[in-house]
Amino acid sequence: MIMFPSKVKALRGLLQFRNTLGCSYSLRKARLSRLVLGIETSCDDTGAAVVDESGQILGESLHSQTEVHLRTGGVIPPVAQQLHRENIKRVVQEALDMSNVHPSQLSAVATTVKPGLSLSLGIGVEFSQRFVRQHNKPFIPIHHMEAHALTVRMLHPVAFPFLVLLVSGGHSLLALARGVDDFLLLGQSLDVAPGDALDKVARRLSLKNHPLCSKLSGGQAIELLAKDGDRTRFPLTTPMGKTKDCSFSFSGIRNQVTMMIQKEEAEEGVEEGTLLSCVNDIAATTQHTVAAHLAKRTHRAILFCKANNLLPSSNPTLVVSGGVASNQYIRKVLNIIAEKEGVSMLCPPAKFCTDNGVMIAWNGVERLREGKGILPPSVDVPYEPKAPLGVDMSEEVRAACIKLPRVKIEVPR
Ligand code: KG4
Ligand code: ZN
Repeated sequence: MIMFPSKVKALRGLLQFRNTLGCSYSLRKARLSRLVLGIETSCDDTGAAVVDESGQILGESLHSQTEVHLRTGGVIPPVAQQLHRENIKRVVQEALDMSNVHPSQLSAVATTVKPGLSLSLGIGVEFSQRFVRQHNKPFIPIHHMEAHALTVRMLHPVAFPFLVLLVSGGHSLLALARGVDDFLLLGQSLDVAPGDALDKVARRLSLKNHPLCSKLSGGQAIELLAKDGDRTRFPLTTPMGKTKDCSFSFSGIRNQVTMMIQKEEAEEGVEEGTLLSCVNDIAATTQHTVAAHLAKRTHRAILFCKANNLLPSSNPTLVVSGGVASNQYIRKVLNIIAEKEGVSMLCPPAKFCTDNGVMIAWNGVERLREGKGILPPSVDVPYEPKAPLGVDMSEEVRAACIKLPRVKIEVPR
């Protein structure tokens, strides 16, 4: 853009004026671009953030319920609902205050409306609809998994199409992201999600009684203990070895580990609830089997995309996100596959892999830029506990029956 000297002078004058008001550079930049408030309450985190069009986070706040749910041994929906109810107003206000943004300055409010726990989703949706009506702002309903998939674009210039593996406590899916609201679903879990399986194994191992793990989620606890474990001591079978598609199954891993724990308890002569001496080895084998299963299905997804020219030939990208994607061992195993296939792997930092308001605000920005799914404040938007992501291609993947080449999965300690 060519700028005439008089315009440059005028702009400089405006910036100086703003400086005299004490505005920081980032604040000035933000004021020139559109701002979206994002609100997340789909499970057990109450999150809010204000993000601008360039992906700058102006303010954010997150209230995590992990500690409460750890005590009760899992998320109890009415408890999660009550905690969202108690915290949402404060969390949103904190994000706005930190951003130094008044609601009138927002271009839109984006909120998770699907999928998730209905009692939790309801609090965010109800709060947001009241908020947009009060301040007369457009409303952008957000699909939680779409938000996980797009977060990476706030941090890196990743162009569509790219392959995405989303792994969390509630989800496990492989999809091709072709646009902001255009996904091909290649496979998903037939039973539980990997984070759920890890959480249940951690609970069965009573890891909350472990001095190093009392404040950690199940997945984090397994990752920590696995560092000192021998994964070869109790080998497990990787699930679905004979099914040549991209579906996942984690309940079998959980059952195998439960039986292993029962056997070890009998051998050590201890009751359920006592920490086993081999707890690190069990953590290591569980983590490795989850990683190997994810890697195999992801490998097939890459080969399917290649065979059907679904990924760009230059610099194809695999994005891995969701709570389980913060596991460094799982990342390393997936990277072995990505490197073998000449695919770059990108993972958002752990903070953005787990649920937060930033990813919802960013999804709002992406939709605002493309003018997709922006509703007037008066429209009633229902929440949907179950909502698939994109067009289901799992039958086509199964029909392709792609055999995987052997890959040695060895992660150096
Ligand atoms: O994405 P997220 O915050 O919430 C949803 O489930 O949507 O993911 C939480 C899940 C939990 O199951 C937790 O145990 C798992 O992610 N997780 C991990 C790690 N950190 C969190 N799993 C494995 N390794 C980790 N480091
Ligand atoms: Zn999530």
